[in-house]
Amino acid sequence: MNAKEKESELFFHTYKRLAIEVERGEGCYLFTKDEKKYLDMFSGLAVNALGYAHPAIIKAIDEQVRKYTHLSNFFIQEPQLQLAERLLSLSGFDKIFFSNSGTEAIEGTIKLVRKWGKKNGKKNIFGMSNGFSGRTMGALSLMDKDKYRDGYEPFLSNFGTIDFNNVSDLNSQVNEHTSAIFLECIQGEGGIIPVTQEFAESLNLLREKYGFLIVADEIQSGIGRTGKLFGFQHFKIVPDIITVAKPIGGGLPLGAIIGSKKVADVWTYGVHGTTFGGNPVSCAAGVATLDAVMTDSFLKNVNKTSEYFRLKLIDLKSKYSVIKEIRVYGYMIGIELTIESASIVDQMLTKGVLVNSTANTVIRILPPLIAGESEFNILLKILDEVLSSQPKA
Ligand SMILES: Cc1ncc(COP(=O)(O)O)c(C=O)c1O
Repeated sequence: MNAKEKESELFFHTYKRLAIEVERGEGCYLFTKDEKKYLDMFSGLAVNALGYAHPAIIKAIDEQVRKYTHLSNFFIQEPQLQLAERLLSLSGFDKIFFSNSGTEAIEGTIKLVRKWGKKNGKKNIFGMSNGFSGRTMGALSLMDKDKYRDGYEPFLSNFGTIDFNNVSDLNSQVNEHTSAIFLECIQGEGGIIPVTQEFAESLNLLREKYGFLIVADEIQSGIGRTGKLFGFQHFKIVPDIITVAKPIGGGLPLGAIIGSKKVADVWTYGVHGTTFGGNPVSCAAGVATLDAVMTDSFLKNVNKTSEYFRLKLIDLKSKYSVIKEIRVYGYMIGIELTIESASIVDQMLTKGVLVNSTANTVIRILPPLIAGESEFNILLKILDEVLSSQPKA
């Protein structure tokens, strides 16, 4: 039995795995057993911000593993304190809770805003159409896509979705009973779709009027991914709560809920918790990641290279009518096609470049934040080759 057959026999069929068997990673590259080299431009779905086998991450993990790998949250743990201090001072927020994953950060936030809402006489919670919040029941309750929700009904009560970027729908659904609104300011899985300025402004005005909480889901767009610490900083939205995950554990599982003063006292001892959340090794790797990413030159380079790539993509768009739109926010990049993107992505894989297909027609590019012009040039060359080989419409 080969690995593919074994996988199919052993696992629930939830994942359609790629047809390559990775042995190791180094920088922006993955290598198979037969030493075939792949340029990874989706970095474990926005997790591997510093690429593979980064010396600072290896050092942080190695040092922490030798001290303790797990203590439980009965104990104060130095790596948790360090990461909490950094995230709170960078964000200017007040309190933090560490989870294991993105969806658990969302789930915990739902509990937090429900408790806050109960105190404040508000009970309705909204997500956005076309959004993605995770796979747990609470996260699914914030979403509208049948693809993820079918068969899992019933969802949580008093939940709904607002048509993303539709101001009149926002105005008609939100009122004094609204407790919280969750949004990705740049929808990731939805196809790299930004919130419009008009929608952001209306959201702010409605919050002033009704006093609900805004939750910015920064699980994909946070920690430098868009060239700023958080994706919402590109827009005029100031959230009350931020959720982060993906890169925050330096490649190990970790998520966090970051709350402003407004929600600082909602939780008391014992009302929420987790066995593994805030794992010290993940936190140590997270500190190493933040130390690298939050230097001036690091994010300057992300922004400079991203702009270089954007201009090259505009050239490519003028060459291929199949490219409908380009959406570039730092290293969170969507190329919308007039055709399905999956086959283009598959063809790029056979030529050694890994990108991702989302929202049917979008090529999603989420490179490691260490990727430079040379990596983007390889991607451009392969994309050009693949697009030029498509049958004429
Ligand atoms: C915006 C957003 N929120 C939540 C999640 C869920 O995170 P996780 O897969 O770690 O549970 C994801 C994952 O892709 C995401 O992109």
